[in-house]
Amino acid sequence: MAIRIVRENGDEVLRKKAREVEAVDDKIRELLDDMVETLHAYNGVGLAAPQVGILKRVVVIDLYDDKGPIKLVNPKIVKQKGEQEVEEGCLSFPNQFAKIIRPAEVIIEALNENGKKIKIKGEGLLAQALSHELDHLDGVLFVDKIIPGTLEYVTEEKKEERKKEK
Ligand code: NI
Repeated sequence: MAIRIVRENGDEVLRKKAREVEAVDDKIRELLDDMVETLHAYNGVGLAAPQVGILKRVVVIDLYDDKGPIKLVNPKIVKQKGEQEVEEGCLSFPNQFAKIIRPAEVIIEALNENGKKIKIKGEGLLAQALSHELDHLDGVLFVDKIIPGTLEYVTEEKKEERKKEK
């Protein structure tokens, strides 16, 4: 396993559309494992493969609950419902946060790390994370969707304070 470098705002790979994975093989499983390790190293909630420079439809999410990391290959939203206004950031925009509207509930279909078809229903934070990460696969970034006037630049010190608050 290895920590990969997270591409940041301005890197054109973030704007490209990722390709479907044809076979969930050892190379994809290694990518998934590396992405989970990277996600944890950066203290993130979700990471999409384009953010580590790989244009494949691969996503990992970890809400740090008892379910552990979620690894998704070729995820697709099959249903979404409602809206929620959330505060959001992105590992590719290290110091920026903004308010945005995400679906309140999403149902996705994907393949797991063994190539098996799975269905996941997400509400609240999971719906937000799924929506955010799946956007990355189409080159869509959270800054495209912010509620005008809510973008905040946060310094490292402020970020630490926020963590303590939560
Ligand atoms: Ni992101």
